[in-house]
Amino acid sequence: MKLLVTGGAGYIGSVVALQLVEADHEVIVLDNLSKGHEAAVPEGVKLVRADLLDAGRLTEILADGYDGVLHFAALSLVGESVEQPGRYYRANLTGTLNLLEAMQSAEVPRLVFSSTAAVYGEPEETPIPEMAPTCPTSPYGGSKLAADHLIGFFARAHGLRATSLRYFNVAGASSSLGEDHEPETHLIPLVLGAALGERENVKIFGTDYPTPDGTPVRDYIHVEDLSRAHLLALDAADEANSGEHHVYNLGNGAGFSVREVIEEARRVTGCPIEAVEAPRRAGDPPTLVASSARIQDELGWVPEKPSLEAMISDAWDWMQRHPRGYEES
Ligand code: UFG
Repeated sequence: MKLLVTGGAGYIGSVVALQLVEADHEVIVLDNLSKGHEAAVPEGVKLVRADLLDAGRLTEILADGYDGVLHFAALSLVGESVEQPGRYYRANLTGTLNLLEAMQSAEVPRLVFSSTAAVYGEPEETPIPEMAPTCPTSPYGGSKLAADHLIGFFARAHGLRATSLRYFNVAGASSSLGEDHEPETHLIPLVLGAALGERENVKIFGTDYPTPDGTPVRDYIHVEDLSRAHLLALDAADEANSGEHHVYNLGNGAGFSVREVIEEARRVTGCPIEAVEAPRRAGDPPTLVASSARIQDELGWVPEKPSLEAMISDAWDWMQRHPRGYEES
């Protein structure tokens, strides 16, 4: 298939682009490179530098004819979104609307969308199923939920076959592709940065949560396992009826606390890694663990690297090979 991957120069989009190339698809990456890295675009993949807010340009690009779009391009920092809700809704909702309209005029039939566990807010039920109430606590989660709804309406109105994948905490690396954010806010790369000596210590944001050791519990999923789910969703679009919009949660169904992550990173790296207790970070729910039963049942998705050890050691290998991220590659 000929596929457009928006945000394909980013952490998750680049891994998916690589897996799509390996599965013999023709891949074109669309990225504005505001967060992504040119060096993360897999070899043999054309990079089109464009912004989703440029609707005219998007229409021209899509008019080339595509069999499907995998849509990753977005802003994704929860804290930043609280400060700048307008910017988040514009990038994540208006950007998606522009993309959907360009797809509609070019009659592109398939869409796989990068959604998030942040749509659930502070869930009452754990592990979280897809039918749990959606009650986002941040503009980031709100903008992604609004985009999910919009995709559902477009699917119904225009016969699109669409899937939203709601990711929990993505970690690990895949061969030459890894996590390189600026600024970095995610726990695992920050912990490993402390192991590398890039920073003195790692802060534990809150130790008084209602969890077994008082620190927040998250469901970590390996980026390669997550990526494979996109390929399954794309294949399943052929069996779906036009107009169908499917929603799947993606995690391992197992939670690890911040302290457990740090302890595992000490084991994997052999470094002491100093941890310093700090106040809670605004907007962090105590526990987020996915039920991925639906995607396992319906698409046959099975995680191959569910252990925290595999995720941390793959991320550690990548960081050691790329101590300055993509700058050095
Ligand atoms: N944490 C620390 N110290 C740090 C960084 C993080 O204690 O230096 C804690 C956080 O407070 C949180 C946990 O580690 O409890 C995980 O934090 P991350 O920033 O790694 O990930 P989040 O759970 O906040 O967010 C991730 C994605 C979001 C997505 C969300 C959905 O980054 O895009 O999962 O649950 F919305």
